[in-house]
Amino acid sequence: MGDKTLHRNIFQRIFGICATKLPSNEDCWTFDNGKIVVDLAHAPELAEKNKAIRLEKKNLPGRVLVVKGNDGEYHAFKNYCTHGKRRLDPVPETQQVQCCSVGKSVFDYNGKLISGSAKEDIVIYNVAVDDSKLVITI
Ligand code: FES
Repeated sequence: MGDKTLHRNIFQRIFGICATKLPSNEDCWTFDNGKIVVDLAHAPELAEKNKAIRLEKKNLPGRVLVVKGNDGEYHAFKNYCTHGKRRLDPVPETQQVQCCSVGKSVFDYNGKLISGSAKEDIVIYNVAVDDSKLVITI
């Protein structure tokens, strides 16, 4: 039984091309007063376990990865690997996220470093589900 990993080719790893996409509907989320609100009805990527979206730009102070976890819960991470600031992706069939770069740093849903080139944990954000909305406190 080998370790689960996120399968990326060497060029994707070298250039740090992550697997997770921006939302298909960029209007599914807003950011105001330190809170991201994601309208789940308009974020189909988060309907299934092990799927994710990355939130960037608009007026956000930094990148955020939002995951519908293997545990069925939602998780939000500051989307910067602590090794070289590359983006993260969920690892299928695990409760982990992995850096898209060659160092393959892996972190659990609590942000704790499990393996890889990184030396520090990543930042996680509080997530609350309010009806069909996700509220992420940055
Ligand atoms: S940037 Fe993530 S392991 Fe190097």
